[in-house]
Amino acid sequence: METIELTFTLNQREVTVSVAPNRRLLDILREELHLTGTKEGCGIGECGACTVLLNGRTVNSCLILAGQAQGSEIITIEGVEKAGGKLHPLQESFLEKGAVQCGFCTPGMVLSALALLRKNSTPNVDEIREAISGNLCRCTGYKQIVEAIQAAAGKLQRK
Ligand code: FES
Ligand code: FES
Repeated sequence: METIELTFTLNQREVTVSVAPNRRLLDILREELHLTGTKEGCGIGECGACTVLLNGRTVNSCLILAGQAQGSEIITIEGVEKAGGKLHPLQESFLEKGAVQCGFCTPGMVLSALALLRKNSTPNVDEIREAISGNLCRCTGYKQIVEAIQAAAGKLQRK
C-alpha cells in the first residue's frame, strides 16, 4: 500500500514516520516508534487503555488514523515524567495510593487525569470520576485511583 509521510510532535520532539494512511495512531506509537506504554485493550474505543493527549485533549489512539496526527502535538505516558526521569506527581500518587495493580489501565488513567488537572487544579470527586469515566479498570475498583488523583492535585497545588 502507498505510504504517507507523517510529521508531528511527540513528547516535545518532532518525529517523522512513513506509514500507510490506514494505520492507527496506536500502532504507529507502539510499532513504528516503539513507545509501548500506550496499551491496546478493546481496539474499539471503549476501554481507554490507549488514551493519549492529542493537542491537549484525551483521545483513544485506537480510533485515530495516521492522517489525523499530522502536525499535531501528542503526549503519551512516556512524555509525562519530569526531566531527569523523575516521576510526575500523578505517577507518584498512583504508586503511593495503591492505584496500580496489573497496571494495564494506568497509562490511560494518568493521561486522563493529567488532562483534567491541567484545566481544573482542584477537582472534586465527581469531576475526577467524570474525567476517568472513559477508562476502564478491572482491578482496583477505582477508589484508589480517585484518591491518587486527589493527592496529586494537592501536591501540584503546593508546588
Ligand atoms: S484500545 Fe482504544 S479504547 Fe480500548
Ligand atoms: S490496574 Fe489492572 S486494569 Fe487497572
